[in-house]
Parts: sequence; structure tokens; C-alpha cells
Amino acid sequence: MSLSSRHLIGLFGVPKDDIQNILDTAVTFREVLERPIKRVPTLQGKTIVNLFFESSTRTRISFELAQKRLSADVINFSASTSSTKKGETFKDTVRNIEAMKVDMIVVRHESSGVPQFLTRISKANIINAGDGRHEHPTQGLLDMFSIREKLGKLDGLKVCIIGDIAHSRVALSNIYGLKTMGAQVSLCGPPTMIPRGIEMLGVKIYHDINKAIAENDVLNILRIQLERDAGTTIPSLREYHNYFGVTSERLEKYNPNILILHPGPINRGVEISSEVADGPYQIILDQVTNGVAVRMAVLYLLGTMN
Ligand code: CP
Repeated sequence: MSLSSRHLIGLFGVPKDDIQNILDTAVTFREVLERPIKRVPTLQGKTIVNLFFESSTRTRISFELAQKRLSADVINFSASTSSTKKGETFKDTVRNIEAMKVDMIVVRHESSGVPQFLTRISKANIINAGDGRHEHPTQGLLDMFSIREKLGKLDGLKVCIIGDIAHSRVALSNIYGLKTMGAQVSLCGPPTMIPRGIEMLGVKIYHDINKAIAENDVLNILRIQLERDAGTTIPSLREYHNYFGVTSERLEKYNPNILILHPGPINRGVEISSEVADGPYQIILDQVTNGVAVRMAVLYLLGTMN
């Protein structure tokens, strides 16, 4: 079964059947990753370029590994070592790369809207690997996959996203995807980190972390994005930790059954204590493993549509 779009720009408006299809396909690829030979010939002959204009560890390596596991030819573009440093525009850069006959482009950019723009100037399938504060759809998908793997369902679950919502692209992808799959989504953080009017997306807002922990099945913790000036919206990181830091004391007292997710990178001692980051409540590294399978599913489903 193919997807309803040949690009993955965000989870906004993506039909439930498409999300279900990606998550179910990822289960098969998750099994491939456990085999001694972790490679299938599915995308043999396809050329994929990874355009990263912003730093990344998990997403960049995960996409590259997923592409190699599917036997695609992979090209990695890093803005810091490219001719953009000599003044070449983004559009010219893409046109030159496209002239080398690439089939798919995975793009991360600090500006919201760049993946959408690429769909207008390129014939390749475009996959958003995170654009500004907009969306990070494969992170949303891998979070849903990991929750479903651990708790067996998404429909009816109560999922709270806590932290720097205002600067987050992970939050929006989680909200759109989880709501489509029938989960009840809420947000928690200081008022300065919750965008005004976001409750119009049908999410409940908490400013009391203890209540958020007590009333939810899953807590997805976001980091404070200091590189995007998040530090100016709170008095200090210590103050943030005191009021909104997820600690084992809080989890034990208010909800010892809660499941903890974090997309990474984590700021230990700020939004999450080391004890929680390494402890029994969390599935942070499972998310990373699952990310490869989920990206294999997205690449396979889009790459075989052409
Ligand atoms: N979760 C995530 O997007 O991490 P990276 O920025 O390291 O890719």
C-alpha cells in the first residue's frame, strides 16, 4: 500500500492510514535490524542525498544508516564544507545536486518551510529531517512507534509533551501525529515556553509538572533550546530544573508507571535528571534504534512510489 503523498514534509494533515502504514512497515524493518546481515535490496539503484544545513547526530546518522540498509546510493552534503560558503544560493545548490540525478532528498534546515520550498524546485521525493520550529515528522513517527511498541497502542493514551514547546519542531509533529492516531495530547511548561493559542490544536495545557506526571501515561521531554535563545524565556536553568525538571523523586511520588521519552540531545540536570535519563522509566535509546527502522519504512514507501 503506498502513501497519499510522494513527500514527507510534516505530519499535519497526514491521514491515519498513512501513519499506520509507516508504523506497520517499520515493524518489518525493525526485524531486519536484528538479523546478522542487516541489508535488503529494496532501494538498489536509487540515489539519495542528505542535505544538512544544521547540526545533527541522531537524525543524520539514522537516515544514512537506513539508506544503506536499503542498499541505496548515499551522498552526504554538509553546508559547512560546501560551496554555499563561497556564496552559492540554496536554490542553485539544490539545482546542481539535482543535475547529478538524485531520486530523493532528505533535508534539515534552520528555516521553517525549506522542505516545502524544495518540493517546488526539485523533482525528487523530499523528506523533512527537521525545519526550524516547524516539524520533524520522522521524529514524531519514531516516537509513536516506540510508544506503541512499549504500550501496545496509541488510541486513548494520554501523552504529555513537556519543556520548550515554543522552540520545538518535535512538539508539533507529535501533536499532529498522536492526535490523528487517537491519543489525548497535552503540553506542560512555563507560560513563556507555551505558544499562545496552541490549545486551539486540541491540546490541554499544564503549568504544574506534578499534575502532568500524575495524569498521563507518557511524558515526552523536550530540551531547552539554548541555541534558539530559549534561555531568555526562563530565569535560569537551575530554576527551570527546580520547577519543570523530570526527576525520579517526582516520578516515584506522582506516577511510577509513566513511560519517559526524550528525542535527544538531552541536557542532564536541566529538563531531565541523570537518574531518569539512565533509569527504568525511559526508552530513550530504544527510540534511537527504532528511528532507523521508521526511516527505512518512510524511504521505502516513498522511494517505491515513483
Ligand atoms: N532528535 C534529533 O533530531 O536529534 P539530532 O538533532 O541529533 O538529529
